[in-house]
Amino acid sequence: NVDEQESRHLALSQLQHHVQDFRHWEWDEAVTREMEEFKRLPALYRLALNELQNKIEAIKTEWQMRDGYSPIEHVKSRIKEPKSILRKMERKGCEFSLSRMEDVIHDIAGMRIVCAFVKDIYRIADHLGSREDLRVLEIKDYIARPKPNGYQSLHLIVAVPLILLEGTRWVKAEIQLRTLAMDFWASMEHILYYKYDKQLPAHVADELREAARAADELDQKMLRLRREILELAAAESE
Ligand code: GTP
Ligand code: MG
Repeated sequence: NVDEQESRHLALSQLQHHVQDFRHWEWDEAVTREMEEFKRLPALYRLALNELQNKIEAIKTEWQMRDGYSPIEHVKSRIKEPKSILRKMERKGCEFSLSRMEDVIHDIAGMRIVCAFVKDIYRIADHLGSREDLRVLEIKDYIARPKPNGYQSLHLIVAVPLILLEGTRWVKAEIQLRTLAMDFWASMEHILYYKYDKQLPAHVADELREAARAADELDQKMLRLRREILELAAAESE
């Protein structure tokens, strides 16, 4: 149905236009309820991400006080661009609608927590799983089972409760937990791979996998060194 398709296209382009800069809302009469709701989303996801950041900040402070060091090296957050949301839905073969979007795209709010040691990642994940002010919906362990290209990280899909005037609303976010070495590899791979959407030549892919293994070995080595230093410190204090 051409008419239907055309009006959908129109709606989509209006949507894209408006959400790209939601400070300038100049709605035509034909604005749908769905679009009104879409306008609120960046603000809602921003609030959810703030909530999450506060929780992580509290964990950092408390663990620092208890253990003398924080397992969290640094944290980065971002809200997914409307353009990337639409592109991702297209890639997944989804018709655009708000409910589909909330079902299909888990990383509109995204947080990356970079840790010193692999063990810290699982300690943080366990802790997050035990909190009452958070729901862990899904865990993808690319550390236990790295991706074929060598990518390693622990991904959590969580839901964060937002207390709004209308009541509590659970908003999804993706948390990626990595060590410094995993983050180095993933950042480099992203830079190298960026704008190259074809299959990599076999030897390049092999060397990337090899680099991922090297990052893994570095993590293991640091863990061994830490253990050794802790033992030395314990022996000295006896
Ligand atoms: P997509 O976001 O479409 O990949 O959804 P998915 O369900 O496959 O999620 P997945 O857990 O595989 O990846 C989510 C996010 O993890 C991505 O958006 C990236 O930020 C990161 N990621 C996953 N795989 C790779 C990878 O091979 N290299 C790098 N650098 N990052 C990756
Ligand atoms: Mg993926």
